[in-house]
Amino acid sequence: ALRWGVVLLVAYLVGSVPVGYSVARWLGRLDIRRYGSGNVGATNVTRVMGARAGALVLAGDVAKGAVAAWVGLRLLGVQGAVAGGLLAVIGHSWPVFLRFSGGKGVATGLGAVAVISVPVAVAMVAIWAGVVLATRYVSLGSIISASTAPVWLWLAFRDWPVVAGGVLMVLIIAWRHQSNVRRLLSGSEHRSY
Ligand code: G3P
Repeated sequence: ALRWGVVLLVAYLVGSVPVGYSVARWLGRLDIRRYGSGNVGATNVTRVMGARAGALVLAGDVAKGAVAAWVGLRLLGVQGAVAGGLLAVIGHSWPVFLRFSGGKGVATGLGAVAVISVPVAVAMVAIWAGVVLATRYVSLGSIISASTAPVWLWLAFRDWPVVAGGVLMVLIIAWRHQSNVRRLLSGSEHRSY
């Protein structure tokens, strides 16, 4: 129980680190929450500040999920890695350092998945890239790719707690994309290129 507590707390705090907000604040001298979609993720930092800053945010947010899942993996095995990834996504979405108003969990979730299973991460990035290239909607790629996670996790591990953790991650990511779903349905979502 102590190990679980440590993993969940560390993962939440790591996930809470406001990478996108800080990069925009220090490199662009702006509050990213006031521009573009208002999101603190790599997509919106790219949209507002360009690809270099966006790549930095992507790397940082992926690293958060990877570190959290790695700590869980070391202490508790694959179920711990999933729990760590889930808490990192929660931290990223509702960060203690940004008054509990954060991002959408996609990059952080990907980092966790990459530690849990490289083939699953590769499959999900491929689906994400396919949808984004076909539709030019990053958010649609994120929603569709994330939704497939439970299937891949089932095929990779055949372990219901692992799949359940994946389902919770998907639900959080979908919940955080409500504004995107509304824009997609009304035809006003941002196009990526
Ligand atoms: O990962 C976030 C992406 O799916 C949507 O970002 O800024 O277009 O709301 P944004």
